[in-house]
Amino acid sequence: MILVFGGNGQLGQELSRAAAARATVLRALSHAEADIADASAVATALALWKPTLIVNAAAYTKVDLAETELEEARRGNEIGPGVLASACAGAGVPMVHISTDYVFDGSKQGAYLESDPVCPVSTYGRTKAVGENAVRRRLAHHVILRTAWVYSEFGHNFLKTVLRLAATRDELRIVADQHGSPTSAAELAEAVLNVAGAFVHDRTLAGTYHFTAAGVTTWHGFASRVVSIAAPMTGHNPRVIPIGAADYPTAAKRPANSHLDCRLFIKTFGFLPRHWTAGVDATTRALVGSTQQAGSHVA
Ligand SMILES: NC(=O)c1ccc[n+]([C@@H]2O[C@H](COP(=O)([O-])OP(=O)(O)OC[C@H]3O[C@@H](n4cnc5c(N)ncnc54)[C@H](OP(=O)(O)O)[C@@H]3O)[C@@H](O)[C@H]2O)c1
Repeated sequence: MILVFGGNGQLGQELSRAAAARATVLRALSHAEADIADASAVATALALWKPTLIVNAAAYTKVDLAETELEEARRGNEIGPGVLASACAGAGVPMVHISTDYVFDGSKQGAYLESDPVCPVSTYGRTKAVGENAVRRRLAHHVILRTAWVYSEFGHNFLKTVLRLAATRDELRIVADQHGSPTSAAELAEAVLNVAGAFVHDRTLAGTYHFTAAGVTTWHGFASRVVSIAAPMTGHNPRVIPIGAADYPTAAKRPANSHLDCRLFIKTFGFLPRHWTAGVDATTRALVGSTQQAGSHVA
């Protein structure tokens, strides 16, 4: 059985959904059920569930708040992964740990390889990079999967923010000079389950991999796609205006280039990601459809 930490997050919830569809035995623990930085809670969970593999989907993901909430960010992204890795090493259990494009500074021309040196430009990115190293140091049998620009029907994400703003505004001003691959948590969950299935039998697959949807766009391209899919269903069709990151100051700096090269993952695990538009279209339709269905019950 697969034991997931961070079970109430975007990826955690999609892992539960994807495992149920495949009849894979998986138990997802929420933050309230197990804090990954709490060694005794982690040990208790491992002893109780006796997993064959662990997925760490838990993380402190509030990128801007991390600049001021350093202790919380360290707990979720540095201490927690280290505690999990030590517990896995002690129990002889392999772990899939999720990381981020934000370990890079975004200055590279072209897609980032797994072997490129990390150089985070935010507290979130720095804590995630430290967490990666804690996993590498403490647990030989790890897969670190870096992904980017994750969205889903669950939780807070850019796609949902765009839908919310599009309902009330005539104009959305969206950053057009940061590049990345919007990745559906549903597809990421499928990728993680594929890794889990292979890694549990073949621990020589241990290492660091990149996985995102295929193709690259900007936040402006991402938002424009969401609006163009939603508009025929909602009637809300705001103009989407491109702006520079310099015109939208945020507490945390973000990489201008988040494009991750996923060829090693595809070659190793035989799982081909779909183009980013496929997941964005499906999630947009699902979210708008569920809102309209809920609305149709209101007298
Ligand atoms: N979201 C993105 O755009 C993105 C991009 C690249 C990589 N990633 C990585 O992908 C992974 C999954 O992200 P996601 O989008 O699913 O994140 P998410 O929706 O924010 O979920 C993270 C979950 O982890 C929980 N958590 C935080 N600290 C914890 C702790 N100390 N112990 C146990 N649980 C804790 C959170 O619970 P609370 O809400 O109760 O704190 C939340 O349920 C993370 O490793 C993230 O760094 C995400």
